[in-house]
Amino acid sequence: MFKSTNLDQFPFPFTDGNYRYSNDLKQLQDVNCIEITPEYKVQIQKKRELLEEQPDIRFQSFPYTMEMQWEVLEMLVDMAVDRYPEYFKVEKNENHWTFQNLILEEKETFIFGDETSIPHEPLDFIGRHFHNDFILMVHRDDNFYLEVGQISYAALFSANWNKGMSFDEIHAPVPFVSRTGVDLMARVRDFLLRIEPGSPWTRINWNLMADRWDVNYETMDVWGPERSKVNEENAGKLVHLRVEEQKFYRMPRSNAVLFVLNTQFLPLEDLPKRPEWLELTYSVLQDIPKPMAEYKGIAPFLAPSVAYLKNLVKEVKVK
Ligand code: HEM
Repeated sequence: MFKSTNLDQFPFPFTDGNYRYSNDLKQLQDVNCIEITPEYKVQIQKKRELLEEQPDIRFQSFPYTMEMQWEVLEMLVDMAVDRYPEYFKVEKNENHWTFQNLILEEKETFIFGDETSIPHEPLDFIGRHFHNDFILMVHRDDNFYLEVGQISYAALFSANWNKGMSFDEIHAPVPFVSRTGVDLMARVRDFLLRIEPGSPWTRINWNLMADRWDVNYETMDVWGPERSKVNEENAGKLVHLRVEEQKFYRMPRSNAVLFVLNTQFLPLEDLPKRPEWLELTYSVLQDIPKPMAEYKGIAPFLAPSVAYLKNLVKEVKVK
């Protein structure tokens, strides 16, 4: 199972030891979403395998989104070349483009705007060069609708399952969001409606995974029973803290919001490398209300994970 090795690039999610929801959106400082990690090749290989294995679950779009997808392709190519000129190159002769990925030694030649010149739809095509998940939320009727998605690292989410859903429908199962009588998700949606081109926003979401890269409803028969393999002894290796760095971009031409996810994993046994992370993770996990653990799909292995962390915290303190 793949894990992050460069802890400086790991988006550790907790800042205090309690568990609660809030509107934690922040303005994104570095607007470029392309990030090459030491695990790049493994991530891309796995992402492409998943896309080949279950293409209809992992990529979905509506036919009228082609122009919007080309706009995303252009943005991602420009960002990649701008940030990593040693890894990515592009030549644009009017509509005739050549994009080179020097890490994978791949050269893509195509006609910008012409889907027949590429083997997949534009976002599915360019998304295979970056380890992120990409979702295009189209702005209509004061809401956003999921109309294109390339999703390979899902936590109870898939392009197939969520295609066509509004922002509100997607978030309907989230528990506690209106605990205080305030509809947090309606506020977040209104906030997203005000995002301007050129000023993206970001937030972090997290979960735990039991020896899995991704979980979606379509493969629940496989990963569901596996969660009960976890015990107090093996939790350090099997259970991973799964963190999604989420970025939200208003696309200037289509007015859609592009949602980019950078998902990273850290096995619980690596937490002592940053003792403050170990303490915070233990503290948050033992504070999670039961309905929340159930919603996140972690209820079957939360107790052994917390017990494992409790022992680890003691061991680290003794040393
Ligand atoms: C616009 C793009 C967004 C998409 C496509 C999206 C998608 C999702 C999905 C699929 C889930 C899981 C829902 C389920 O249980 O079925 C989720 C959960 C959630 N989303 Fe969003 N989301 C978006 C933006 C946001 C924003 C801006 C926030 C800001 C607060 C947010 C907050 C949450 C929270 C708190 C959860 C529950 C997560 C957990 O505890 O595991 N989402 N979102």
